[in-house]
Amino acid sequence: MSWRRYCLDAAATQRAGEDFARALRPGDIVLLAGQLGAGKTTFVQGVGRGLGVSDRITSPTFTMVRQHEGVNDVGIATLHHADVYRVDSLDEVVDLALGELVEESAVALVEWGELATSVFGREVMTVTFVLDDDDARTLVVDGALSDFRRDELDAWAGA
Ligand SMILES: Nc1ncnc2c1ncn2[C@@H]1O[C@H](COP(=O)(O)OP(=O)(O)OP(=O)(O)O)[C@@H](O)[C@H]1O
Ligand SMILES: [Mg+2]
Repeated sequence: MSWRRYCLDAAATQRAGEDFARALRPGDIVLLAGQLGAGKTTFVQGVGRGLGVSDRITSPTFTMVRQHEGVNDVGIATLHHADVYRVDSLDEVVDLALGELVEESAVALVEWGELATSVFGREVMTVTFVLDDDDARTLVVDGALSDFRRDELDAWAGA
């Protein structure tokens, strides 16, 4: 099953991220798939807002992963924001140990994460960014989904 949300512009993609934060729980890993400039970082900025992150979130392209502390009522203390576009081998993604990091009341959002699906296994959600005409994007969510998430994502797709 998958959920879609049409985002007319960058602000709409940020709002989609902010709303998506409600479907997140500690331990989640979310892969963000879509071409250069598709809006992955823009979406993470919105997720940060939804998780009560006060830092300015920028692209972690050169650092691979950045941590942001958040204040929210779903117990997510840390947002790990990774970008694996520039990794030379999957070992570098393994070394990030995101699976362990998210055990500490955290979530991880991974730009270009679909390039390293085998590292993350099957228990992940994926958000795919499809470019439409002009500035519009369609966001498609699929992956490992518990019942509570279905309700949250129904609301997300209907907004
Ligand atoms: N509907 C939209 N959603 C998101 N971004 C949009 C949209 N329309 C225009 N934009 C613009 O497209 C750019 C998206 O950049 P962003 O850094 O979020 O992409 P990205 O997918 O993270 O790219 P990269 O793969 O290089 O990390 C921004 O300049 C943003 O303002
Ligand atoms: Mg980016």
